[in-house]
Amino acid sequence: MRPEIDEAVKVLRAGGLVAFPTETVYGLGADARSPAAVRRVFEAKGRPLGHPLIVHLPGADHLERWAARVPDAARALAARFWPGPLTLILEKRADVPDEVTGGQPTVGLRVPDHPLALELLAAFGGGLAAPSANRFGSVSPTTAAHVAADLGSAAAVILDGGPCRVGVESTIVDLSGEAPRLLRPGGVPREAIESALGVALLIGGEVRAPGTLPSHYAPRARVRAVAAGALAAEAARERDAGRRVVVLAARDVPGFSRIALPDDPEARARELYAALREVDARGFEVAVVALGSLEGIGAAVEDRLRRASAPRPDGT
Ligand code: TXA
Ligand code: MG
Repeated sequence: MRPEIDEAVKVLRAGGLVAFPTETVYGLGADARSPAAVRRVFEAKGRPLGHPLIVHLPGADHLERWAARVPDAARALAARFWPGPLTLILEKRADVPDEVTGGQPTVGLRVPDHPLALELLAAFGGGLAAPSANRFGSVSPTTAAHVAADLGSAAAVILDGGPCRVGVESTIVDLSGEAPRLLRPGGVPREAIESALGVALLIGGEVRAPGTLPSHYAPRARVRAVAAGALAAEAARERDAGRRVVVLAARDVPGFSRIALPDDPEARARELYAALREVDARGFEVAVVALGSLEGIGAAVEDRLRRASAPRPDGT
C-alpha cells in the first residue's frame, strides 16, 4: 500500500480527518461510523450541526450496510453511474449515526470516481462521511492547495490527486420518497438519470441542505450573473459605482480585467471554483459573469453561479 494511504487509514481509524480528492471536489473525510470523528468535521468546517453529510463508499456492494431498503431505482442508478458524481438519498439503517444524517431518516451515499479516493476507501474498508473540504459557506476546493488554504491543519492528511476532473459537486437524487426527486444538479446531467430511470425527476423540494441554500458557494466578492448580452453594460455599471470589477469570461471585454472562464460547459465546470477563488485572491469586489448553456453539466454550473450571485444574508 502507498505510504500516504497507509498513513491516512491510520488517521481515520484513530478518529481523525483526511482530505481526499474526488472527481467532483475535494472532500474532508471521517469514519462515518464514529460520531466523535464526524463531529470533528463540523468543527473543522465551521458548519452548523444538523446539516447531513454524504457517506462515500468503496463500492455499491456496501449499500445495504447503510440503507434500510435499496429500491430497484437505486440499484439501477448505482450500476449505471457509480463510481461517479451521483449521490443517492435512501432510507437509513437504524445504526447510521445521527451526526451523519443530521437526524434525518435518510442517508446520502455515493461511490466517488477518483483512483486515490477509491484506494483510500478500499484500504479503510468502510464509509467515509465527507463534505466538501472548505470552510462553511465558501467555495468548494478543486485542488489540494485550496484545501490547505481553507482548512490549514484541521486535516491530519491531505491527499493530493491534482485538480478535480469534474469540478462541481455530485448530483443528488432522493429515492426515499414516492417518486425520484432531484435535490441538487451536479456532475451527472439530469437527462442521463431520467433516461436511466425511464421517468422524469421531480425537482427541488424541502431539504435542509447547505448546498441548496440560496447564497451558498459564494466567494467574498459579489457575483453578478447576467445574460450574455448584458455583460459589458453590467461591468461598466459596477465600475461607475466605484467598485473593483473583474469579468469572468472566455474572451476579453475591452476596458476590464478578466479571469478566464470557458464557455464549454465541461471546461466551465472544471474551472469555475478556481476562478471564483481567484476573484477573491486578486482583491476584486465584484465579478460579472454571463450565464451559460444549461445543457448537460451546464445546469449544475449555472445553478452554482445563480447561488453565488443570490443576495447575501446582509442584503448585498
Ligand atoms: O460531490 C460531492 O457531493 C462532494 C464530494 C466531496 O463528494 N460532497 C459535497 O458535500 O458536496 P457537501 O456536504 O458539501 O454537500 C452535501 C449535500 C448537502 O446539500 C447535504 O444537505 C446533502 O448533500 N445531503 C446529504 N445527506 C442528505 C440527506 N440525507 N437528505 C438530504 N440531503 C442530504
Ligand atoms: Mg459543500
